[in-house]
Amino acid sequence: MNEWVKGKVVAKRRWKDGLYSMQIDAPVADFTAGQFVKVALDIDGDRVGRPYSLVNPPQERPLEIYFNEIPEGPLTPRLSDLNPGDPLWLSATANGLFTLEGIEPGRELWLLATGTALGVYLSILRTPGPWQSFERVILVHGVRAADDLTYAETLKLIADEHGERFTFVPLVSREAYADALAGRVTDLLVNGELERRVGVPITAERSHVMLCGNSQMIKEVREILEGRGLVRHRRHSPGHYTTEHYH
Ligand SMILES: Cc1cc2nc3c(=O)[nH]c(=O)nc-3n(C[C@H](O)[C@H](O)[C@H](O)COP(=O)(O)OP(=O)(O)OC[C@H]3O[C@@H](n4cnc5c(N)ncnc54)[C@H](O)[C@@H]3O)c2cc1C
Ligand SMILES: NC(=O)c1ccc[n+]([C@@H]2O[C@H](COP(=O)([O-])OP(=O)(O)OC[C@H]3O[C@@H](n4cnc5c(N)ncnc54)[C@H](OP(=O)(O)O)[C@@H]3O)[C@@H](O)[C@H]2O)c1
Repeated sequence: MNEWVKGKVVAKRRWKDGLYSMQIDAPVADFTAGQFVKVALDIDGDRVGRPYSLVNPPQERPLEIYFNEIPEGPLTPRLSDLNPGDPLWLSATANGLFTLEGIEPGRELWLLATGTALGVYLSILRTPGPWQSFERVILVHGVRAADDLTYAETLKLIADEHGERFTFVPLVSREAYADALAGRVTDLLVNGELERRVGVPITAERSHVMLCGNSQMIKEVREILEGRGLVRHRRHSPGHYTTEHYH
């Protein structure tokens, strides 16, 4: 059973039709970067809750989530209609194992996101963990269209703080856009273009890879990584890649 706490929307940002960030005030317990909270609304007498990764780093408040509206979904069309001051419910604690805890230090940390999965990495990147354990951190954001590339200000702050140790690689699959790589992360791993852009290969000896977002992407990237000898990271058996499925 979830224990719910009352929250209040502090701010909402509409990036484009159907794509939002929301800041929320709620007495949620301390969390580790990479974890998610459940967010719920009472709809027709039922409390409808869904998990959302926290975008804010643990040391900062308000809480922030980043989500897209699924028109046929029970929660997101109502969530995106909320405005500052509106009430909602949150789980009293954050959960999840998609964190840096137990991950062995290495040379490069690769953070691969599709769509709104970018958010979880913005929390992790604003903690000391990745910078203490890895020489370089590479964030890869795969989206359909250029206007799905969001959070430019936050990415700039991270880049300004960490200089050449941080590399951001946008991938846009459905149109050509500036210096973004064109296509899906799977194809760009198979043809070597992603690693050529970054200048280092992904190998079991040097890399840890975090995969978050679209389940089919995660499944296909896992197959590519396992073909190169990387193994799944488990709590009691350290490995080379970690996953979090959104849909
Ligand atoms: C651990 C975890 C963390 C999550 N964190 C986030 C997050 O930070 N941001 C976020 O946007 N979503 C996140 N999700 C997905 C989120 O919980 C909801 O499923 C989503 O927001 C849709 O809610 P809904 O009630 O409108 O529709 P649902 O009933 O949840 O889903 C309706 C249908 O849409 C599919 N779907 C769900 N999410 C997506 C999506 N993003 N893109 C395409 N199809 C989708 C589902 O597979 C289902 O078929 C997370 C899921 C998990 C398990
Ligand atoms: N993004 C939008 O403009 C938009 C508009 C309307 C509604 N929505 C809603 O938002 C939901 C999520 O859309 P989203 O664009 O955030 O996420 P998404 O469908 O997961 O796509 C994000 C990125 O992941 C890529 N991808 C999808 N499957 C993959 C796979 N198996 N391997 C590698 N890469 C893969 C996509 O490439 P491809 O482009 O090749 O699929 C795209 O570049 C949609 O289902 C829809 O309900 C989004």
